[in-house]
Amino acid sequence: MVNITKTYLPNKKKYKEYVDEIYNSGWITNNGPLVQRLEKRLEKYLGVKNIILVSNGTSALEIAYRTLDIRDSALTTPFSFVATTSSLVTNGIKAIFVDIDEKTLNLDSEKIERFITKHTSAIVPVHVFGNPCDVEQIAKIANKYNLKVVYDAAHAFDVKYKGQSILNYGDISTLSFHATKLFHTIEGGALVINDDKLAQKARYLINFGIENPESIPYLGTNAKMNEFEAAMGLCILDDIAEIKSKRKDVVLYYKKELDGILRFQEQNKNSNQNYSYFPVIFKNEEELKRVQKALNDELIFPRRYFYPSLDSLDYIEPKQNMPISRDISKRILALPLYPDLEKEIQELIIKTIKENIQ
Ligand SMILES: Cc1ncc(COP(=O)(O)O)c(C=O)c1O
Repeated sequence: MVNITKTYLPNKKKYKEYVDEIYNSGWITNNGPLVQRLEKRLEKYLGVKNIILVSNGTSALEIAYRTLDIRDSALTTPFSFVATTSSLVTNGIKAIFVDIDEKTLNLDSEKIERFITKHTSAIVPVHVFGNPCDVEQIAKIANKYNLKVVYDAAHAFDVKYKGQSILNYGDISTLSFHATKLFHTIEGGALVINDDKLAQKARYLINFGIENPESIPYLGTNAKMNEFEAAMGLCILDDIAEIKSKRKDVVLYYKKELDGILRFQEQNKNSNQNYSYFPVIFKNEEELKRVQKALNDELIFPRRYFYPSLDSLDYIEPKQNMPISRDISKRILALPLYPDLEKEIQELIIKTIKENIQ
């Protein structure tokens, strides 16, 4: 069976050496030495100032909203994984959607201003599939209306924009290090925060709001990463160049074979790609379903990512309708993509797609 992704597992001996280290120290969680080491290595590798490791990408978003005191309502994209929206709603922040650009699949920055009201406190865009948003235009609007910007950068590990990390844009960027991601820590995530004071506040917030044994200045939660997760990250960071290069080979093959046949996401010209996903856009949902079924018959399971469009979720109030996102989400499919995806499977995927489209 072939799924959209296969979790990358590093060398077992290397991981065991870290596990031995954990057993020797007896320190398994609460900002342990491996978490600290991974934070330092990631800051250097990604070229960012403060990385705060957390338990998952969803809690990274929630901590970001609390760090910046985001309330009332936020503008966000309807074309994302559900956590972008649900994290707002569960924190009492209304999700007000701005439709996407049908080429880049990111929130359309040209449409943002018409949705700003006196209730708007933030913009929460997503670098969809690692493709950078229009960060300059978003910064301009945020400055003009005094809005906070939290980038959900769950897919944007190792993406550079105009020569520097895309994670340096906005007030806070959040990452997911879930097992399905390009770089993972089993479960995990991170906040990237330029401002040192805010970074310190986020550190208190992930540990129940505790500053020291006598002071609890913030309403916090428990969002800490543990040592076994950090050990996984340390191992995988050693292998990241090879992981990316193998994923790139798969993406280039898919692109070559499907060019002119299916539509791809238009990439930002000022950035590199991290090859984290390979979504293809069909003419209509019927064609997508036909291809999906034919692939499933071969025990290949691509994923309808992202589906459904988040503005159609039952719990969203007020009701909204984002036609471009709804249209794209019905006809986009992410193809299997992982470092050791066999060539024969890649060929079978291409053949099956070609046989099932008109
Ligand atoms: C865009 C986006 N945001 C947030 C998340 C949530 O991350 P996590 O699964 O680590 O909680 C994901 C995870 O898949 C995601 O794709």
